[in-house]
Parts: sequence; structure tokens; C-alpha cells
Amino acid sequence: MVLAVPTEHKAYENRVALTPEVVKELCGKGFQVSVEAGAGEKSYLADRLYTEAGASIVHDAAQLYASADVILKVNAPEPAEISCMKRGAVLISFMYASTSPDVVKACSDAGVSAFSVDAIPRISRAQKMDALSSQSNLAGYKTVILAANALGKIFPLLMTAAGTVKPARVVIMGAGVAGLQAIATAKRLGAIVEVSDIRPETKEQVESLGAKFIEVKGDDSIKTEGGYVKDVSSDFLKKQQELIAKHVSAADIVITTALIPGKKAPMLISSDMVKSMRAGSVIVDMAVEQGGNCELSELNKTVVKEGVSIIGESNLPSLLPLNASQLYARNISTFLLHLADSNAFRWELDEEITRGSLITHEGKIVHPSIAS
Ligand code: NAI
Repeated sequence: MVLAVPTEHKAYENRVALTPEVVKELCGKGFQVSVEAGAGEKSYLADRLYTEAGASIVHDAAQLYASADVILKVNAPEPAEISCMKRGAVLISFMYASTSPDVVKACSDAGVSAFSVDAIPRISRAQKMDALSSQSNLAGYKTVILAANALGKIFPLLMTAAGTVKPARVVIMGAGVAGLQAIATAKRLGAIVEVSDIRPETKEQVESLGAKFIEVKGDDSIKTEGGYVKDVSSDFLKKQQELIAKHVSAADIVITTALIPGKKAPMLISSDMVKSMRAGSVIVDMAVEQGGNCELSELNKTVVKEGVSIIGESNLPSLLPLNASQLYARNISTFLLHLADSNAFRWELDEEITRGSLITHEGKIVHPSIAS
């Protein structure tokens, strides 16, 4: 079975789907691995390292796609890439199928069997394959580092002969995987950390990391399912804004990570709330690509509004390409080995992980959430 690792062409992308370490393991299990020339460069992984690990380097992308049985990518492929894949090939990448109908249709029309790693069920037996978590974890760390760098202050309490420096105050909205790592990182740097989430179970997790939980009483409009917020009313969001406003205006840094899968991100920080913050404060909006948690954030830009720096970086894991590629490669090789050996795919279509993540197969859209 020939596995292909193309270069990622999406803007702001530095990751690569497989690292030489994982290539070596897969070659040891009987797979042949082809890597596009330069695919690992932005993750500081030279072609030579892939060759030493047992891969062949392919210079022509069309040839790479055409000869592949399995294409391993980080981001969903472009139409031009899908058109080079052979019928019956398997694709493994992030896809966000419910919001990417064009990619799904193109894969189905091309007879490509596409697995979307963001759809792998978050069950304990699939933890090693959970790329959403591995990448969010890194993003949560990086967001604090970016904020710390943009803030003209230090994080910890400092008592010196010249006076006492008060610790920085960090407010984090959303205590999912990224939010929890952001809390831990900000605490390690010595900040006072306050956190808000609307899933009640997060209170204990936040407090166990030494942060203070900002209690916002929920209402009937909050729908949760499988550990995710599924829906919330605009009335509730208004009430939530009023309740968190005083914490935001006293903060040096606000980090927002709140997401509702498949929907626009909830608006949590209004322009009036930004106006209430001190000049020199920093907001990092991790939800910027899904419409943003802050009214004033701009995609892939850092803007200064009302004296507040608002960072709207869309691809935070990509800013840590060494770790992000390392963990992603491990996630998808574990996933691949769950689905196949070097001779063939098992195609156990009723098995939970396969059923949860297979989007298109044999020319049809098969995922239950989008199949018509
Ligand atoms: P996410 O990225 O979809 O959302 C981030 C956070 O935003 C969530 O904690 C959510 O509650 C919060 N949020 C939504 N609306 C909000 C609002 N209006 N105000 C404040 N916060 C708001 O979630 P993520 O990080 O991908 O995963 C969260 C869930 O998935 C958790 O329940 C987690 O335990 C579960 N999970 C389970 C795993 C497993 O069992 N293998 C692995 C990873 C996560």
C-alpha cells in the first residue's frame, strides 16, 4: 500500500501530515511512503530525513497523488488535488464535513473514500487518534505566549527594592481542551486566572488547575450533547456579557476559546467591553475563524482598537510546527493502523470509529450527519 504525504498549500500552514519518525515505523510495518519534495520544510523536516526513514521523495505533485493508495494530509484537499487522486484512493485529513459541502461532493464524485479526522469519535479507545485535542492543546499554550509577548507587563508578582509589581490578570472564556491548556500555561507564568464556561462540569476542572471560576448561571436555551455546547440563545449570550463585563474590564489579557461545533462562534466580547479595558491590554480570539468571540477581532490580523491589541491568529498549532506535526503524525498513523494493514483496508463500516469518521465511500456520501 502506497501512502502519500503532499505539501500543505493552505495559507498560514506550516505542518506536515507525517514526520520521519512515524514514516520509519510505517515502513517497518510494510507500507511504502512517498513524500512530496519540501513537504516537511516548514516543520524543519528536510527531505533527507524522510529518505533516511525509508520514504521516496516525489517532485511532481500530480504523480504523487496519482500513485497513492492513501493520501495523508493536514488540511482538506483543494479541487485540483482531488482531481489527481485515483478512484478508490483513501484520504485522511481534517475536513469539517458539515461546513465543507464542496470538498465532500468532490471526494464523492471522484470515488475517493474520505475520512475526516475531526469527526473521529472522542471515545477513550480513540484518544491516541484525537487530532482535535492534540492540536487544541498546543494552540492553548501558544495563545498565552502570544498574549504575554504583546502585553507590556510581566505575569508574576514581583517584589523588588524598587517596588511591587502586581501579577497580570488573565480571563479565559471557554474551558475545553485549548482553554484548559491556556489556564495551565498562564498559571505557570504566574498570572491570576479567571475562567468562564457554560458547561457546569468545567467548574471543577478549572478549579483543579488553580484558577477562579466565573459562575454564569445557565438557562434552558443551553443545549449540550457529548460534552459539547450545541446551542445557546442570543438572550443568554447578552446576559452572559453583562455578567462577565467587570472581569473583562479589569483584565490585562482576555483569551477566548468558545466554540459551538458546526455553528458560528458565540459573541462574548462586545466593542463596548473592549472599550472598557485599559490601554495596553490584549485579547486573543481563538474562535476568529468561526466568526470570532470578540466583535472587533479580524482574521489573521493583530489590530489595535481602543488601545487594546486584538490578536486574530487563525492557525495557532501551525505556529508550533515541530510539536504539531509530531503529534498529528502520531494521531493519524494510529488511525490508519486501526483501519488497515499494509495489504488492505478492513472496511468494517459498522465499527464506531470507522462509522463516525468516514465521510464518502464508493462514490457516495455515507456519513449519517450529512448523507441525504
Ligand atoms: P470546543 O472547542 O467545541 O469548545 C470550547 C469550549 O467553549 C467548550 O468548553 C465549550 O463549553 C465552551 N463554550 C461554548 N459556548 C460558550 C459560551 N457562551 N461561553 C463560554 N464558553 C463556551 O470544545 P473542545 O475543547 O474541542 O472539547 C470540549 C469537550 O470535549 C469537553 O467536554 C471535553 O471533555 C470533551 N473531550 C473528550 C475527549 C475524550 O473523551 N476522548 C477528548 C477531548 C475532549
